[in-house]
Amino acid sequence: MTADDPELRVSKIESGTVIDHIPGGLALTVLGVLGIDGEGDATVSVGMNVPSDRLGRKDILKVEGHELSQSELDVLSLIAPEATVNIIRGYEVAEKFRVERPTEVVGVLACPNPNCITNAGEPAEARFTVLDAGVRCTYCETILREDITDHVQV
Ligand code: CTP
Ligand code: ZN
Repeated sequence: MTADDPELRVSKIESGTVIDHIPGGLALTVLGVLGIDGEGDATVSVGMNVPSDRLGRKDILKVEGHELSQSELDVLSLIAPEATVNIIRGYEVAEKFRVERPTEVVGVLACPNPNCITNAGEPAEARFTVLDAGVRCTYCETILREDITDHVQV
């Protein structure tokens, strides 16, 4: 490792999650959907437009003391399918995996259609089928594409 190693722009963490290979420019969107707004006590480091062999430019997020839940991973996969998640324990990379696009997400997104049964006070949990581009409400077939990030309810 050299002093100008791009991975060392942000220092190593003791425990938590490193979300690597986020497409350049999306780090703040990812933070938003994970509900990290600086109001909580999590220590978060953000690297933006870090040079990357694979992506040209990438963003990287380091969230200390927090391992992402499955619903957080599901949301992440919809926004940044190329992301790598590294779980850090005792300064070591304990687990490393690519996010996987699920075939369906349940309870992670809210349907924007006011007439959808999931908005009628019924105990029906919002359920979306994951498409190649976007997601589709299982109940009313409303499709979300670019606006997906506006409807996250993790
Ligand atoms: N990392 C960290 N704190 C640690 C260990 C690792 O912040 N205690 C970060 C590294 O800076 C890197 C990511 O976690 O951004 C993955 O670490 P590692 O697997 O060691 O790096 P690479 O081999 O470069 O990962 P990849 O092959 O996934 O690009
Ligand atoms: Zn719906």
